[in-house]
Amino acid sequence: AAGPPRVTPVAGRIGAVVSGVRLSGDLPDGVVARIWDAVLRHRVLFFRDQHHLDPAGQVEFARRLGEPTAAHPTLPPLDGHEHVLDVGDAPGRRADEWHTDASFTDRPPKASVLRAVRVPPHGGDTVWANTAAAYDGLPVELREVADRLWALHTNRYDYVRPHATGAGRRRREPLTTVTFETEHPVVRVHPETGERALLLGGFARSVVGLSDRADSQALIRLFQEHVTRLENTVRWHWAPGDVAIWDNRATQHRVVHDFGDRPRSLHRVGLAGEAPVSVDG
Ligand code: SIN
Repeated sequence: AAGPPRVTPVAGRIGAVVSGVRLSGDLPDGVVARIWDAVLRHRVLFFRDQHHLDPAGQVEFARRLGEPTAAHPTLPPLDGHEHVLDVGDAPGRRADEWHTDASFTDRPPKASVLRAVRVPPHGGDTVWANTAAAYDGLPVELREVADRLWALHTNRYDYVRPHATGAGRRRREPLTTVTFETEHPVVRVHPETGERALLLGGFARSVVGLSDRADSQALIRLFQEHVTRLENTVRWHWAPGDVAIWDNRATQHRVVHDFGDRPRSLHRVGLAGEAPVSVDG
């Protein structure tokens, strides 16, 4: 039998490659527990060569870590797979801006499992940032400010850009049919580790209680710049069969949109999460 999975960090503050595991719904409990421990510790894990997985197998594996959500709050699922979103087929998503998945919902997913199906030969990397390290890196004076703030998150953005016409506009339409708005603490306490992490990203539109939009934007930018410092990030170059699992409560991520029109298809399964809790409980 294979030995225990080997977990090798790939960057200083976030990310580890896991080898010696064939992901499936049948993994022994001990292996699943070790994977989840590593998710909490490293924030994002990478598994190579998981070519045996198909959408159903990916969902069965994901189910061992939590309860799969609907594919997306507004976008249609992959045909025949209610829990799977083809992120390559998701027009106008803000995936090329830093974000925490579905932070515009009351209970954003706790984690996501993303599998590379078709990727460009170069480009199309994904970058993750450690939002707990970002909080820890703030000077204490700024931590105290962040601890008290709440932000409004919404999917009501300019998806249907003024210049989008015809097919482009139609492809973006599903994103705008249902508007979500929710308020989250800017600092959330991780429900499993107790760590504090910044919760902002592309869906955070304004700071609650600040009527001046410029003040709001400046504050969000200040904290967001701490999140995206290169020291807090890890960048992954995909090969087909790669799987990434990340803790959506302690990370943001974005795709690097440098692959033009070349096909890129990754299948994502989200796992149901909790309402973010502030430092005041
Ligand atoms: C995502 O935002 O979940 C997907 C990112 C990517 O396409 O690399």
